[in-house]
Amino acid sequence: MEQKVALVTGASRGIGKAIAQSLSQKGYLVAIHFRSQEAHAQELAASIPGSKIFQADLGSEESCVQLAKNVKEAFGRIDVLVNNAGMSVDQLITFAKPADFDQILNVNLKSVFNLTKAVSRFMIKQKGGSIINLTSVVGHTGNGGQSMYAASKGAITAFTKSVAVDLASFGIRANCVAPGFIKTDMTDSLSIEVKEGISAKIPLKRLGNPEEVASCVCFLASSEASYITGSTLHVNGGMYTS
Ligand SMILES: NC(=O)c1ccc[n+]([C@@H]2O[C@H](COP(=O)([O-])OP(=O)(O)OC[C@H]3O[C@@H](n4cnc5c(N)ncnc54)[C@H](OP(=O)(O)O)[C@@H]3O)[C@@H](O)[C@H]2O)c1
Repeated sequence: MEQKVALVTGASRGIGKAIAQSLSQKGYLVAIHFRSQEAHAQELAASIPGSKIFQADLGSEESCVQLAKNVKEAFGRIDVLVNNAGMSVDQLITFAKPADFDQILNVNLKSVFNLTKAVSRFMIKQKGGSIINLTSVVGHTGNGGQSMYAASKGAITAFTKSVAVDLASFGIRANCVAPGFIKTDMTDSLSIEVKEGISAKIPLKRLGNPEEVASCVCFLASSEASYITGSTLHVNGGMYTS
């Protein structure tokens, strides 16, 4: 049996890093994607046997297609695609900048379209695969100041449900993992008061850890989730459960 290969985008830090580590522990060879944090990606690769690092800014179609090709050439196959890379620019709608919205849609949403399209060709030839897209609780509930980010994440949910139908007959599953508030650079910028306010509203009364998201991604990637496609697994301490 050939060892399975997982491509994790945005694996230089935060949730993506934890996903890369967890998938490696489950026996996958991991393609670690990063944009700017090469030293972090190299450090992670040094701790994950058989892994390789790949640089790409996912804001353009060309770079997404090239990333998929580079990983396929390096490993010969891609069994799991984790579309994790993401960004946000928070702003009240009145002051939101159209250029920021374009960038958020390019990085968060169009990269998911471009990579899923490119990698699905390889998965179809392999007659199987699993695609996992990172969305967010705010893509389901909305959040003040995050209309652009929430729109990008909500769209990924609808995209994933549709792709799940397109690819089901090829043995390819597509699902979302929707984190709530998780301790990473993305939430580190919030003040202690804001974090305490958020924790108070979470039924489990704390922010989540990247590893708690990673374990859900590993489950959806595995054959234990063989009858799950087009679904969203919510990992948010009880903030939103439907
Ligand atoms: N943290 C949370 O509370 C939370 C909650 C809900 C959903 N999420 C989602 O979970 C995912 C990971 O979040 P995180 O908190 O781990 O984020 P993070 O710590 O801010 O890391 C973001 C990752 O995305 C990469 N990235 C950013 N812009 C990119 C671009 N233009 N092209 C390619 N890669 C790019 C970064 O690469 P470099 O570092 O190499 O530049 C980094 O690896 C995101 O999709 C996020 O929306 C997070």
